[in-house]
Amino acid sequence: MSSARFEPSGPLRGRLTPPADKSISHRAAIFGAMSEDPVTVHNFLDSDDTQSTVTAIQQLGAGVVHQGEELVIRGVGLHTAHETTGGFIHVGNAGTLLRLLPGWLAGQPGGAWTLDGDASIRSRPVDRVAEPLRLMGATVEARDGRLPPMKVSGARLVGIDYEMPVPSAQVKSCVLIAGMLAEGRTSVTEAFPSRDHTERMLAGARAGFEREGATARINQVDELELDEITVPGDPSSAAFIVAAACLVPRSRVLVQDVGLNWTRSGFLRIAQRMGAVLLADLEEPGTQASEEPVGDVDVAAAPLVGTEVAPEEVPLAIDELPLVALLGCFAEGETVVRGAEELRLKESDRIAGVVEGLRGLGADIEATADGFAVRGNPVLRGGVLEARGDHRLAMLGAVAGLASEQGVEVVGMEAATVSYPRFAEDLRSLAG
Ligand code: S3P
Repeated sequence: MSSARFEPSGPLRGRLTPPADKSISHRAAIFGAMSEDPVTVHNFLDSDDTQSTVTAIQQLGAGVVHQGEELVIRGVGLHTAHETTGGFIHVGNAGTLLRLLPGWLAGQPGGAWTLDGDASIRSRPVDRVAEPLRLMGATVEARDGRLPPMKVSGARLVGIDYEMPVPSAQVKSCVLIAGMLAEGRTSVTEAFPSRDHTERMLAGARAGFEREGATARINQVDELELDEITVPGDPSSAAFIVAAACLVPRSRVLVQDVGLNWTRSGFLRIAQRMGAVLLADLEEPGTQASEEPVGDVDVAAAPLVGTEVAPEEVPLAIDELPLVALLGCFAEGETVVRGAEELRLKESDRIAGVVEGLRGLGADIEATADGFAVRGNPVLRGGVLEARGDHRLAMLGAVAGLASEQGVEVVGMEAATVSYPRFAEDLRSLAG
């Protein structure tokens, strides 16, 4: 395990383009594999997580050629996923691959695949996708009924109307992907909106997708019509740079070519509410589109005030909530996040990791059953933060270090390669 120190920083200045979006890259690879005609993906994310997805689709029969920044995928079509390597698929640390791919595999009659991954993946629930896929007709087995390894035996699927018991874009996506292979029509209803990249890609592929209020519907399709996908910069990766620029006094940073899809910009709206000086052409909430909007985020350091994050905001900022805690450490008054119990089921238990990690640096923060509450102070002392094998905790520790009094040593910094391999260099380049 590698440790890295992040010292208190002078003002962050300059411009930076974050890595490509992880969520959209996973989906682009899976949709490319399900297509019959070649699909060119521009700006595919080069990271550990997305490499797991590339390897998985190759094992399912897709050809993948890297041409500079582009990835060209020669898929096998919707109905002919191959069963090479004994049907064993190693998803590494990639929860999105673990939850989305079964949607496709479940619709392959006669095929059977086992999905497994690293120690963190083995603690991530899969019953949330097993349940709807069983209702559609597939056989899905999991360890203790809920954890990987998970075996998916494909079948002729039938459409269902599914009300999601947990707010999850991964579950929604899995059901919609299976819905393309299921007889009739499939619908998924969510309590609060979550990221809609799968819906946009389905609409772009003319896959008979429609949305009405909280319900997304898909009809059985024979073929996807996709030839190019352009992946914007990842707003979740960008958020770490934005938070650093908000917190390090006298900073001014332009983060370029970031995805500004409204279902991903919850963190930017929360930061603005806390007083962050942040200019961006954010997409209007409720927008339905097949395109992914892209733009720049211009951010400058400013004094912050505490805020309350309500349960309906949680899915729109789910991966950035650790950063809301960090902003809260410096904000006047209290910052409270509610309705975020899903954080306990991420790459690590992120409520415990954030609360114990930031408290170890001197923060006044406590865990609640469904989130956390933090009281701000003008300074954060610093110290040692354990990444717990979680990329977002590693990057949180780094940003905390730059804004702290004494610096932060992040134990397990290498975890950042899951989504943002160049993170430490990028952050340091802004410090001059
Ligand atoms: C993701 C959805 C979110 C998010 C994860 C990526 C996706 O998970 O936390 O990092 O790509 O669909 P849930 O949908 O399980 O909340």
